[in-house]
Amino acid sequence: MSKSLETYVADLGLEKYSRHIFLCCDQTKPECCSKKEGLESWDFLKQRLKELKLVGDDPTIYRSKANCLRVCTSGPIAVVYPEGIWYHSCSPTVLEQIIQEHLIGGKIVKEYAFAQNTHFSAS
Ligand code: FES
Repeated sequence: MSKSLETYVADLGLEKYSRHIFLCCDQTKPECCSKKEGLESWDFLKQRLKELKLVGDDPTIYRSKANCLRVCTSGPIAVVYPEGIWYHSCSPTVLEQIIQEHLIGGKIVKEYAFAQNTHFSAS
C-alpha cells in the first residue's frame, strides 16, 4: 500500500520550504543543453543542497528535475519560485551562485536571470 498524502507532506517537508527550483535536465530530447551537461548540473544541485543542509530533516529548498521547461536554448534552464525567476546557463558554477545568492540570500542573480514573472515580487 502506498503512503498517505499526509505522510508525504510530513516526510518531504512540503509545508516548510521557502523556495522551489526546477532544473531542466535528463531530457527525453535534450535541446537547451546536452544530456551530460544537464545531469552534471542536477547532480551538483542535489549534492550542494544536501551539503548545505537545505534539504533533509529541516528542508528549506525543494528541487525538481524538469524534462523540458520549453525554453530550449542556452541551458541548462532553471526557474525558482515563489519569485518566478528564470535562469539560463545553469552550470555547476552558476548554480552555486544561485544557491548562495538567491536560494539562501533571496537576491536575484541578475547576470543569469533572463525573465521574471511580474505577478510575483522580488528584489
Ligand atoms: S530541453 Fe531544456 S528547456 Fe527544453
